[in-house]
This record gives sequence, C-alpha cells and structure tokens, in this order.
Amino acid sequence: MSQPVIVAENLRKEFGRVVALRGVSFQVEAGAFFTIFGRNGAGKSTLLSIISGMASATDGNIRVFGEDPAERTHRHKLSVISHESFLYDNLTALENLSFYGKLYQVADLNDRMHDVLHQVGLHHRRFDLVRTFSRGMVQRLTIARAILHNPDLFLLDEPFTGLDQHATEMLIGLMEALKSQGKTILLTTHDLQIGLRLSSRFMILERQRVVETGSVEGLTEEMLRRKYFSLISSGEAGQ
Ligand SMILES: Nc1ncnc2c1ncn2[C@@H]1O[C@H](COP(=O)(O)OP(=O)(O)OP(=O)(O)O)[C@@H](O)[C@H]1O
Ligand SMILES: [Mg+2]
Repeated sequence: MSQPVIVAENLRKEFGRVVALRGVSFQVEAGAFFTIFGRNGAGKSTLLSIISGMASATDGNIRVFGEDPAERTHRHKLSVISHESFLYDNLTALENLSFYGKLYQVADLNDRMHDVLHQVGLHHRRFDLVRTFSRGMVQRLTIARAILHNPDLFLLDEPFTGLDQHATEMLIGLMEALKSQGKTILLTTHDLQIGLRLSSRFMILERQRVVETGSVEGLTEEMLRRKYFSLISSGEAGQ
C-alpha cells in the first residue's frame, strides 16, 4: 500500500494559555475522503492550518506527502478552502486566477481560468473587482482558485459557509468529481448529513482530542448523530 498522504502524531498546539490541540494522531490514505466533525473550538481549523503549513505545532509530528508541511515543498500539491479567501480585493476575478495560475505554472491557463469560472457560476462577473462581490461570490471564487492548479490534496474548512443552495450543490458535485478522480480530501463540517454522504472515513474531535475515528461503511445518519451527541458534551465552545 502507498504511504499515507497525511500522518499526524501527537500534535499539540498552544496559543498562550489556550490549548487548541491536545495530542492529536491520525492518518489519511491517498484517495480517501476524510471528514472531521466537532463543535466550535474543538480544534478543527487549527489542525487544518498545521496540515497546510500555515501554522506550526507546539509539539508532535506532522508529515504531508512525507514532508514537514511548514517547509512548503509540496505547496503546489495542495489547496485550502477556508474562511480566509487568499484573494486580492482590488483585482478582478480573472486577474486573481491569472495571478495564482502563473504562480503555480498552470498549463493552458487561459482555457483553464474560463473553465473554472464557468464551473463555479461566476464567468459573467469575471471582469469585476473582488471587493464588489457578495460573500458567497467570494467563496465561489475561492473554490475556483483552489481547483485551478489541479492539486492532489484538498483541505476544506467549512467550505459551505456563505454558499446558497445552488452553490452548495455545485460544491458537493465538485467534491464528488474530485473524489472519483482519486484526489485526497480532508473536510471539516458541522453538517453530519453532508459529511456522511461524501466521506469514506471520519473523525470526531472533542475538547481538542480525537474521540472517534472510523469508516462510514454501514453507518446511517441516525447512527452517526447518536454517536456524535454521545461523544460531545454540551459545554461551552472551546472547552
Ligand atoms: N490564533 C489563535 N489565537 C488564540 N487562540 C486560538 C487561535 N486560533 C484558535 N484558537 C483557540 O484554539 C481552540 C480551537 O480553535 P479552532 O479554531 O481550531 O476550532 P474549530 O474546531 O475550528 O471551531 P469552529 O467550529 O468554531 O470553526 C479554541 O479555543 C480557539 O479559541
Ligand atoms: Mg474552525
């Protein structure tokens, strides 16, 4: 079997006195669709930012494609969709894609830019500045940016935030297509139904620790819901 795409061992992250991860270990195999569930403050975004190389762990070990992600050697092989858009407000949609496309040396960039703009339903707004976009439109362009260079690993942190029903369906369809192309996808979501529908494996984070990992095989939404609520407490966020 090939080496896992992500290997996390005993990751700990502290922000001053706040502990965001308390010894998190897990692996994601190539081609897996891996969903992380957990309530507000459980540590999901912190974990994704360490995997992407944007933050470093206080302790523990993280390998992505066999390397320390902080080295950024495999930056072109992964994409992040999070609440941060990484877009330039004073550039148009097309200029933003052109900037990223050149940075990642995308082949046939012109065709590819038009293609991804059509995919996210923003082609008609391609000459408009990002600062004039609605929140959902910014998220659509973030998705276009993320798929532009055809990476192998997608890190999706609550990617449905701000999307309307059409865009949500578009993104679900896109994730299903990426999954069938053998891409590795790591998703965080509060939505048990969507997470279950898309994933091959899942993990539940609670109080900055892994409390469950498993396959979704044979798991119904009702079973997942019962499991989830038996494992997470009703305490305050971030506890
Ligand atoms: N930059 C930061 N500075 C200080 N504390 C932080 C920072 N980022 C996260 N934390 C803390 O780390 C803990 C985990 O936060 P994180 O954002 O990873 O949770 P999350 O599971 O993504 O929550 P949500 O569902 O609300 O997005 C929280 O207690 C949070 O306050
Ligand atoms: Mg988060």
